[in-house]
This record gives sequence, C-alpha cells and structure tokens, in this order.
Amino acid sequence: MTFPKEFLWGGATAANQSEGAYNLDGRGLANVDVIPHGEKRRAVMTGKLQMFDFEPDLYYPAQGAVDMYHHYEEDIKYFAEMGFKTFRLSIAWSRIFPKGDEFEPNEAGLAYYQRVFETCQRYNIEPLVTITHFDVPMHLITTYGSWRSRKMIDFYERLCRVLFTRYKNLVTHWLTFNEINMILHAPFLAAGLTFSEGENEAEIKYQAVHHQLVASALATKIAHEVNPKNKVGCMLAAGLYYPYTCHPNDIAEAQRMNRQNYAFIDVQSRGKYPSYLLKSWERDGINVVMDLADQEILKAYTVDFISFSYYASRVATAEPNAGERTQGNLLPTIRNPHLEVSEWGWQIDPLGFRSTMNELYDRYQKPLFVVENGLGAHDVPDTNGYVNDEYRIAYLAKHIDAMRDAILIDGVDVMGYTTWGCIDFVSASTGEMKKRYGFIYVDRDNAGNGTLQRTPKASFTWYKKVIATNGDTSFIR
Ligand code: BG6
Repeated sequence: MTFPKEFLWGGATAANQSEGAYNLDGRGLANVDVIPHGEKRRAVMTGKLQMFDFEPDLYYPAQGAVDMYHHYEEDIKYFAEMGFKTFRLSIAWSRIFPKGDEFEPNEAGLAYYQRVFETCQRYNIEPLVTITHFDVPMHLITTYGSWRSRKMIDFYERLCRVLFTRYKNLVTHWLTFNEINMILHAPFLAAGLTFSEGENEAEIKYQAVHHQLVASALATKIAHEVNPKNKVGCMLAAGLYYPYTCHPNDIAEAQRMNRQNYAFIDVQSRGKYPSYLLKSWERDGINVVMDLADQEILKAYTVDFISFSYYASRVATAEPNAGERTQGNLLPTIRNPHLEVSEWGWQIDPLGFRSTMNELYDRYQKPLFVVENGLGAHDVPDTNGYVNDEYRIAYLAKHIDAMRDAILIDGVDVMGYTTWGCIDFVSASTGEMKKRYGFIYVDRDNAGNGTLQRTPKASFTWYKKVIATNGDTSFIR
C-alpha cells in the first residue's frame, strides 16, 4: 500500500512569504511588499484601499519575512535531511526585472535563484518553480494598471523566456500562476489590481484573468520550445463546495460555486472558455476584450498537469441567511456542522481532499500535483525551543491517507505532494508569523522580532519517516 515509486514528496514556499530582503541586490518593489499586517490588510489585499508604498506607522511582514534569502542553504539542507524529492518555491518577479518592463534582466536576481537551484541539485531535490506566486512589480501596477493591461502578457513572456533559458539544466517543473482563481477574491494580493469608485470590478477582474490565461498558455509554449522536457502546470485554490442541504437550489448553488473555480482550469487544461462562463458574462454585461488569435493560443498550449492547493472543503447555499460563516483560504464559507475547524476557522476535511482529487481527475484526465496542504496553527515551543506539533502530524497523516486512497482505490494519477509552509513563514491572509505551517520552527514573531533561528519540530522527524517509507503515516498515530 505504498505510493508510486517516483512520487515527489516535498514541501512548498513562496518568495514573498519567506525570502525577505525586499530591497537587496537590485530587487524592485512589488505589490506583495506593501501589504501591511493589521487592520488595513484585507482592504489592501482586495484592492479597496490603494497602498502603493510603505506608510510610516505600519508593519510590512514581507520586507524581512524569515530571511530565506540569506538562509536558503541551511533551509534546503534541512529539507534534504527530511528526504525531500522536490521543493516548491517561487520567483520574485521584481528580482529578475525590478520594474517589470525592462529588456535586460537583473543579473544579481538571476544569480540568486541559480544558487538556490544548484543547492537543490546537490541534494538531488527537484525544484518545482512557481513563476509568480501573487507578485507583480510595483512599476507595472502604477504605469500599466497591472493585469488589466494586455501589455502584461509581453512582460510575463519575457520573464518566462529568461527563466526557462537560464535554468534549462536546473528546472523542468513549472507552475504559471499560483492559485489563479484567487484574483476574484483578493485582486491586489493576487494580481496587483485596484479599483476606482464606480468601476466595473467584475469586468476588470475577468479582463485581467483573460490576460493571465493567454500569458499562461504562451509560457507553456515557450517552456516546451526551450526544453521539451519541461512540464508546465496550472495551479488552483481547490476545495469542493458541498451543498448545505439536499435542496435542489443548494445543489445548483454548489455547482455554480465550483464552476467559478473550475472555469480557470477549464481554459488552461481543455483550451477554451466553458459555455457556462461565457453565458454568465453575457448575463452580467461583462465584456472581455480578446485578440483574434487568443482562442487559438489557448487551444494550442494547454498545461501538462493540474496542480492545486487544498486546505478545506467549503459549503454553498442558495439561502442568503442559512448557516454560520467561517474562514478559509481568503474565502469565507458556510460552516459545515460535521467538520472540525482549525484555530483560524478553516474546516478540516481529509475525505473532502480525496473527493476534490477525484473531481479534478474526472474532469481533466491529467496528472494532478498537490502543491499545498497543511495546518496553520499556533505552535508554542517548550523551554528548549522544541515544538511537539502532534496536531499537525494528525492533520497531515489523515490527508496523506486520503491521498493514498485517491491513488490506490480510485486510480487518480498524482505526481507528488508538497506540504504548505515546510518551514514557518508569514501567513498570506493574515500577515502573521503566529500562524505556522512548518516542520521547522523559525524564531520570529508577528512584529518581526526574534533571532530567526531554525529548530526542527516533532513533525520534522515524522515527515522524514513518511518519505523514507514512501507514505507510511501509521507509526506515530
Ligand atoms: C494559499 C497561498 O492561499 O494558502 C499561500 O497559495 C498561503 O500563499 C496559503 O500562505 C495558506 O494561507 P495562509 O493565509 O494561512 O497563509
């Protein structure tokens, strides 16, 4: 009952939540840098409050994060000790093109990731690279309005060509946009979009989505041209919507909500806009401008695999006042009375993970890659600085077991599994350090104080054994 022989076990990070060093070696400012911790965070993330630079009284956790920029060797060594086969990380776009529209890349930025990938190579760890994990150079936001402009496709293409060429011998697994559907819920965080009074937000978002989808298809094209061994994936913030009741209206609402997410992957994997999305644009008076050649580009360059994050399932209802609300991955949802929730209100549902995998595989019939899954929790180190995170082990074990069932019982093709936040770093939704996911504790608090010392937790030893046995979670529980 083990996992497939070549299964890629590992962990995942994102540049803006881990690297810090936001202004070193020529790096330009980006949207992700100027999202403060505290009360204003949500308004900035959603594009309701424009903040294009730092304000003196606010704290910006991405500036320093956990300084992986200077600790990457130590961190990757720890990942190797756990036996990682793969390490997911993202490129900070503004390290490579500080403004975003230059013709020549910043050599210091390229050299940094080269060192990171070479370190991975020394430990036989396959990098899985997210080309953009939410970040957009600030100059592209202030000059072009970010992804609302079609020019972004050229800038992104330029970035991709540089990355694929420079790292041809070091990287073959790429993801184009992290959680591409997140643009609908946190448009500034996910895509650098802000809105002025009276603007048609839905139209702007979907116009930006179209640009990203074309850019993603072109990235796939270029990746295959530069190196036929390259494999390119899309990336969805997944998690099935269940109907709140068996009332047909709730069933229809759950289907509508699921499709809102699938629409992105329908384009990236099947190569065309689904009719239900086109019809909803028509109904809502949303006019998305497309070039004549776009349909052909989308059709010709579909992704090789489907990657996704899964933390929780969700619940949908047609009744506006039904059920309590709870949090979940920037998407508040109806509370499912059958599930427990994390300290941050995210519903814990391992069987929902298996169901989500089955849905995605049925729909797309392409290999899946689970690139985020994990438990955000408040870890309290003992007097020796050690965290006994049994709750995290329990969460991960149940999800790994569910994934095993999806593979061995249901026949779902899964390439690998990277847990989210394999080392502690800043939370995307709340900007806290206190919300930790890692196997390695990092001494840093919500206000940016701490030594940055790294200390393996109990889950470190456990995950090492899971990998060594190719998926046996049983010996601890
Ligand atoms: C996903 C993102 O939405 O969930 C990550 O891709 C994020 O960037 C992760 O960190 C967990 O969310 P949070 O808000 O707990 O950090």
